[in-house]
Amino acid sequence: MTDLEQLVAQAAEGFSLATDGTALENEKARYLGKSGVLTELLKGLGKLEHAERKTEGARINAAKERIEALLTERRQALADAELNTRLQSEAIDVTLPGRGTPTGSIHPVIRTWQRVEEIFRSIGFEVADGPEIENDWTNFTSLNSPENHPARSMQDTFYIDGLDSDGKQLLLRTHTSPMQVRYARLHQPPLKVIAPGRTYRVDSDATHSPMFHQVEGLWIDENISFADLKGVYTSFLKCFFETDALEVRFRPSFFPFTEPSAEIDMAFSSGPNKGRWLEISGAGQVHPTVLRNMGLDPERYIGFAFGSGLERLTMLRYGINDLRLFYEGDLRFLKQFS
Ligand code: DAH
Repeated sequence: MTDLEQLVAQAAEGFSLATDGTALENEKARYLGKSGVLTELLKGLGKLEHAERKTEGARINAAKERIEALLTERRQALADAELNTRLQSEAIDVTLPGRGTPTGSIHPVIRTWQRVEEIFRSIGFEVADGPEIENDWTNFTSLNSPENHPARSMQDTFYIDGLDSDGKQLLLRTHTSPMQVRYARLHQPPLKVIAPGRTYRVDSDATHSPMFHQVEGLWIDENISFADLKGVYTSFLKCFFETDALEVRFRPSFFPFTEPSAEIDMAFSSGPNKGRWLEISGAGQVHPTVLRNMGLDPERYIGFAFGSGLERLTMLRYGINDLRLFYEGDLRFLKQFS
């Protein structure tokens, strides 16, 4: 007679040694599978006498039920263990600080753009915006730039495939000055406007970039003088750099669209750049030819204009010495202005 007690003990040990589902199912097959030990024993019952078959059958079935119970128990234990390891590995540590969502910030040049608008708005200037793709007349001719001006050469300017209504090639504006004419032709004097925006030139080094930003200023009325230009621009610089400790000088210069023309220089009267004169803007009294191109009578109207580089203002404000940093998109640089 088979020792069923021993068989159950053997199965119990086998099940407890199985450490995963597959091992356990293999172990189960040894006892309860198609040719498992218990299955074979049950098959053998047929050969026994009726009375013996009954007692032996009951014994075997009792053993089978115990083995099945052991199996169920072990299955449950393995499933619990698996769940526990998973819960542990996926545990969330609620005490960790949150990762947060980083917010972007305003680019330093755009910050300057916004400050310039704010300051000029506060002293009564409008803000105008215009096209970056210009026609030849507005970018050059209307501003009294002669046909043979070097800026018109293919090497100096980005031309676009496409012609304007005069049959001339379109181009990316080389300065914001064409906005003087565009604005004046659409508005009645007195004109008091700035036009910040992107400008383009075939230029690239530590202080030049093929795309850069300028702000144009224009003030036209019947009685405007150089003193107004000087007053407005000096108070703008003091506001922009948040200091009264700066000096401004107007140095004679030449631009086709102004007469007389000046270069505006500034120097800080304290701080690391103390006493060093820095060129900050072109400026001048609007040329009579330009006034005529604006549709205005130069005998009646007079005004001044200026054009300043926003990168230049930004570099001076933050002490940056390489303009290329603005366009490399390096977050270590940009984050310092957020
Ligand atoms: N458009 C000039 C440039 O890009 C800057 C300039 C000079 C603008 C004198 C002006 C001005 O309005 O009066 O170099």
